[in-house]
Parts: sequence; structure tokens; C-alpha cells
Amino acid sequence: MGDGSSLFEKIFFVGGKGGVGKTTISTSLALSKSKVGKTILISTDPAHSLSDLIQSSSSDEIVNISENLDLWELNAQVEYDKFRDKHQEDFRLILDTSTYLDETDINQFLALAIPGIDEIMGFKSLVDLVKTGNYEYFIVDTAPTGHALRLLFIPEILDQWIKQIAQLRWKYRQVQKSFKGQYDPDSGDDMLLDLKKAVLKMRSILKDSNQSQFVIVSKAESMVFHETLDLKRELEENEISINSLVINNVMKESDSEFCNQVRAYQAPWIEKLASAFAEQNIIQVPQFPIPIKGLKQLTQVAEQLDLIN
Ligand SMILES: Nc1ncnc2c1ncn2[C@@H]1O[C@H](COP(=O)(O)OP(=O)(O)OP(=O)(O)O)[C@@H](O)[C@H]1O
Ligand SMILES: [Mg+2]
Repeated sequence: MGDGSSLFEKIFFVGGKGGVGKTTISTSLALSKSKVGKTILISTDPAHSLSDLIQSSSSDEIVNISENLDLWELNAQVEYDKFRDKHQEDFRLILDTSTYLDETDINQFLALAIPGIDEIMGFKSLVDLVKTGNYEYFIVDTAPTGHALRLLFIPEILDQWIKQIAQLRWKYRQVQKSFKGQYDPDSGDDMLLDLKKAVLKMRSILKDSNQSQFVIVSKAESMVFHETLDLKRELEENEISINSLVINNVMKESDSEFCNQVRAYQAPWIEKLASAFAEQNIIQVPQFPIPIKGLKQLTQVAEQLDLIN
């Protein structure tokens, strides 16, 4: 599908410290967006916590959850295996046209040359999905903080790797040219070009706030506050735009002494978060009495996220 007919509006990456409620908020945001347009919720968490949360069975494939909402528990290893199997022959062509490389050699080469190749392929699969133009909104439930930041460097890592391989190719081209007078591009070149295009697309998506933004999930407490500011700073240093801050587990007013103590503890942290995120939407999500599960409860949270756009 060409760009003209693409539905694509935006990717929201949902990030934050471990356990703050990223999966809960991503799912709720996806429910909220699915009222506006075709939405896909994507997770790379191998624990399959998403399917558990919405009480559906887990799968590596895209599954439909509700009207306008699909779920994809992206398994980076599976995506990597698919990519490698598809391009086995191309790698052979590129690495050596005279020596026979077996599957183990190619696997070893890939693992050594690109650390985190599975993650990279996971991100490439996301970019490929964006290119299909089948969805308006992509909500990505990222793994805890450090992991979310790693994905920002994926285009650079992949680009360097493509350059290295292209150099190998260049020598081969020169030899071909001097023997045959010309060089005919083969499927190895097609693969490199395809990867190069994916890198460019990844970069343009990440750097363009019209195409991708972060939603940071936090809590009104000391430890989470500091990690939240670290994440904010790193995103800003990488020119990644932050759409909103969600302060999760905010205690409501009540008659109980216990709840009021919690509220009194939270108040200054809410203020500090509010002043640090003065330029973003700030959304407070209340503390529920029991863990949030199932579409019905998630819809209650979703209503509070409607202003994220
Ligand atoms: N507002 C809330 N009120 C009550 N329970 C909540 C709330 N938000 C999240 N939870 C519960 O807290 C737990 C952790 O939430 P969640 O799994 O969404 O966090 P996470 O940031 O995705 O964790 P991880 O970093 O491990 O992926 C879950 O049991 C969830 O139901
Ligand atoms: Mg999670």
C-alpha cells in the first residue's frame, strides 16, 4: 500500500520504571484510541502479560481483541528467525560467494556482528507494520526504562552494520566489474537496500513528534520520581517528544486515616512531577482497590486517557 492510502497517524511508546503500570496504561490507551481509529497494541514483553491482562490467550501473531483493536505480542526472537530464514541465501551471497557457509556459520556471524539483533528485528517488524498503512494508532508497551531507551539507538546500530556489510559488497563489486565489465545487483543488494530503507524510516518516525511520542508512566513516590526524571532527560537528549505524563495509583480522598496518610505522602511528589512536566499533559489515574484486570475495568482507566492525542 502506498503512502497516499496509509491510515498511519501515530505511534505512542509507553515507558517508565518497572511495575509502575505501563502495561495497564498501554492497554487502556489502546482502548481509548480504538474509539477514534484502527489501533494495534504491541508488546515485546516475553512474559505475555498483555494477553493475561485482557484475559485472552497468547500468540505470536496479531489477534483481534475488540472492534478496531488488535493485539500483537511481538516475539523478537520469532521475528529474527523469520528474517534470517528469508535471507539465508542473501547472507551467503554477501559474506562469501565462493565458500559455502552453513546455517551455523551465518548464525554466528549475525550474532557476533550485531548484538541485540533480535531486538533490532523486533523494531524492524514494527516499522514494516507501520508501512502497511493498516492502522492509525500504534501503542507500544515497552519493557522497563533502560530497554525503552535502547530502542532509540537501534537505527544507529543497524546503520553501522549495513555500512560494514556494504563495504564487503563494494570489494566484491569491484572484482565483478573488472572481470565482467559490469556489476549486476543481486538479491543480497536488494536486502541491504531494504534494510537501509527501514533504518531511514525508523529514524524519521522516532524524530518526528507528529509520528511518534512517548507517554511516561510514573507514581507519586521518591524512587519512581527520580527514575522518571532520568527517562525524561534521556528522551529530551535524543530529541524524542514526550506527549503526556500519567501519574498512576493516585489515592482518592476518603474518610480513612490510612488513605489520607497515603494522600499526604503523595501530594508533594505530585507537585514535583507537575512542575517537571509543565509542558506535557498530566493525567492522574486513581489507585484501584485490587489489580486492574479485564476489558471492563481497563475501560474505566481508558476514559481518563482520552485527552492523549
Ligand atoms: N491504578 C492502579 N490501581 C491498582 N492496581 C494497579 C493500577 N495500575 C496498575 N495496577 C496493578 O499493578 C500491577 C503492575 O502493573 P503493570 O503490569 O501494568 O506494570 P508494568 O509497568 O507494566 O510492569 P513491568 O515493568 O513489570 O512490565 C498489576 O497488577 C496492575 O493490575
Ligand atoms: Mg508490563
